[in-house]
Amino acid sequence: MSKTDLSSLMWTEKYRPQKLGDIIGQKDIIKGISNLIKGRDLPHMLFAGPAGVGKTTVALAVVREIFGEGWRDNVLQLNASDERGIKMVREKVKEFTKWGSPVGEQEKGDMFKVIILDEADEMTSEAQTALRRMMEDAARTTRFIIICNYLSQIIEPIQSRCVVFRFTRLARDEVIDHLKEIGKKEDAKVDEKALAQVYDATGGDMRHSINIMQAAAGMGAINSANVSAAIGLSGRSRVGEIVKMALAGKFNEARAKLLELTQVYGMSEGDFMKYASQEAYEMKLENPGRFAEIMAEYDYRLASGAHPEIQMAALLAQLGRLGKKD
Ligand SMILES: Nc1ncnc2c1ncn2[C@@H]1O[C@H](COP(=O)(O)OP(=O)(O)O)[C@@H](O)[C@H]1O
Ligand SMILES: [Mg+2]
Repeated sequence: MSKTDLSSLMWTEKYRPQKLGDIIGQKDIIKGISNLIKGRDLPHMLFAGPAGVGKTTVALAVVREIFGEGWRDNVLQLNASDERGIKMVREKVKEFTKWGSPVGEQEKGDMFKVIILDEADEMTSEAQTALRRMMEDAARTTRFIIICNYLSQIIEPIQSRCVVFRFTRLARDEVIDHLKEIGKKEDAKVDEKALAQVYDATGGDMRHSINIMQAAAGMGAINSANVSAAIGLSGRSRVGEIVKMALAGKFNEARAKLLELTQVYGMSEGDFMKYASQEAYEMKLENPGRFAEIMAEYDYRLASGAHPEIQMAALLAQLGRLGKKD
């Protein structure tokens, strides 16, 4: 099961708003941004706020609004936690600076460029300093939309070069109404009490809410029992199952389950590592020391920005080797 197969089936992607006007909540932000993009001289922008509340969605809607259907020709979307991120930015900025039109002077033909840099708070302050210099060098032709969870993790010189928008968790009614709407479009049976339960479990994170609802729908109906199960399944017991599979050498099966857990149920790799360690402790492995070493190594790799999907697959393979020796 590849990542693309999975994401085309995901309701979060299927129902990601394409236009600024269709974004749920974040009203002041949408108003402010709409005004900015009406002007000719677009500023750099910085979006900060918790996960799953529309930051990436708004950034994509902005570039669609500016460039129209062919927006991809003018936009580079990067994840800063990806190691190649900053190098790519440097190369692209060089290219853009050569070929792009000055911001504010675009009539026809070449347009200016936008770089969307997601998870910028994962960057070291050295990398951010380099980024700040690139923003200056590219100022004539390129605008940045920088996205982060924690504004405090972004160096001040970048903050001061951007118009800052603080995204907030979505309100109960906003989430529940949106979930109802999706349920209708999917012809799913929806019990309203179950939706309240979803909100209680996710607290205004729309991505996580939609994922839980989809998981419950997959069990037959979006009712209280299935929602509880979906919330539970997205947790520890699932992780334990995957660790057992990996130790038993069932690599492909473990990898598919893990992808499902991270992509559909929205568990972070960091949480997976935490639960896996707890579960393994209870499994009373023959060689817990070696297990701990392996977990520590991958925890470090993830923290230092290595590609999560690749690292998690490698971790499962390592556990398979450990299981053989046990
Ligand atoms: N404000 C919102 N309005 C409508 N859908 C949203 C909103 N925020 C998140 N979503 C849903 O959650 C998914 C992930 O949102 P995303 O913009 O990537 O969140 P963030 O970047 O803040 O973590 C979207 O594809 C969409 O389905
Ligand atoms: Mg995002």
